[in-house]
Amino acid sequence: MEDHNEMLKFYFRWPDAILDAIQRSQELPSLTKPSLLAVIGMGGSAIGGDLLRDLLYNQSDVPIYTCRDYHLPAWVGPNSLVIAVSYSGNTEETLMAFSEAFKRGCKLVAITSGGILGQLCTELKVPIVRIPKGYPPRAALPYLFIPMCVLGERVGLAKGLIDQAKKAAKTLRSMLVSIREKAKRIAKRLVGTIPVIYGFGIFKSVAYRLKTQFNENSKVPSFANWFPALNHDEVVGWEGEEELLEKFSVILIRSQDEPLEIKRRIELTREVALHKVSEILEIWSKGKTPLEQMMSVLLLGEIASICLALLRRVDPLKVRTIDIIKKHMLELQFSEDIRRRLLKLQGRYKVTITL
Ligand code: F6R
Repeated sequence: MEDHNEMLKFYFRWPDAILDAIQRSQELPSLTKPSLLAVIGMGGSAIGGDLLRDLLYNQSDVPIYTCRDYHLPAWVGPNSLVIAVSYSGNTEETLMAFSEAFKRGCKLVAITSGGILGQLCTELKVPIVRIPKGYPPRAALPYLFIPMCVLGERVGLAKGLIDQAKKAAKTLRSMLVSIREKAKRIAKRLVGTIPVIYGFGIFKSVAYRLKTQFNENSKVPSFANWFPALNHDEVVGWEGEEELLEKFSVILIRSQDEPLEIKRRIELTREVALHKVSEILEIWSKGKTPLEQMMSVLLLGEIASICLALLRRVDPLKVRTIDIIKKHMLELQFSEDIRRRLLKLQGRYKVTITL
């Protein structure tokens, strides 16, 4: 297996990227506590919203919602803080939802490396966390997610998030020494299977994110779910025929801090449901604080998805099918609608946008 893959470099930068992302977020203005926090974005740019929701599940009295669509729900309004996230700044769904948020008078902040979103924000005086160019969006996760944590702390959703992020950088740095070997061991067991990832609590969206990384990096179908929900429906699917189920492997996300009831559900599921799958693996979180634990599972799991790509002799960097669909969507008249909305803003606020 080729070890010097381009993609791995980005992941080895994650500890520095976390610290840099904290630094870049310092420019954000002070904002009052909103009644709702909505994150708009797609794919690798959206996941930070889900991670923040899980992280602050027990702390924030403000609901956190991720909008992965062209349109904002009706209940997002002037008292909402909307974080528009697009690594490229050119994702049509995000631009459309951004223009809706602007029209509704929502408080807006953007996280982007530039593109049309960057240009619009500068013209409309929307505060922006500008992140470095040159990453595949998904590999820039610390840049896309950590500014949300900083903002969450700033607007009073929770305390100590910046501190947790600094600790996460330290924990991830300590993991780098042996991570390649660990990730390779995981990847070897996943070859030829469809990985299914099960999380719980703060690891619900971590599981979903890992599923997307097996899709994008390894080029395999993959699915995710969480405890206790999966014990009430999905688990019955594992009663299926051996020839079908042996095509799957299951990754269980574990933590020393998992509640007793979750621990028992994981054990029971292993015992009564998962005996026909090809492999059952466990990824144990590292560190004490929730953010450290989430980031530690992400880093190991994502590097495993790259190792799986290399074992399968596919390029983890390329996402050909996403690119083809994006290209074709640009040709369709649908993007005209977004263009019209943006030009309307342009007329009102004298913005110059070249589309
Ligand atoms: C590619 C990736 C995708 C993109 C998504 C949105 O690495 O992860 O999921 O993040 O297509 O594009 P951006 O992030 O540029 O708004």
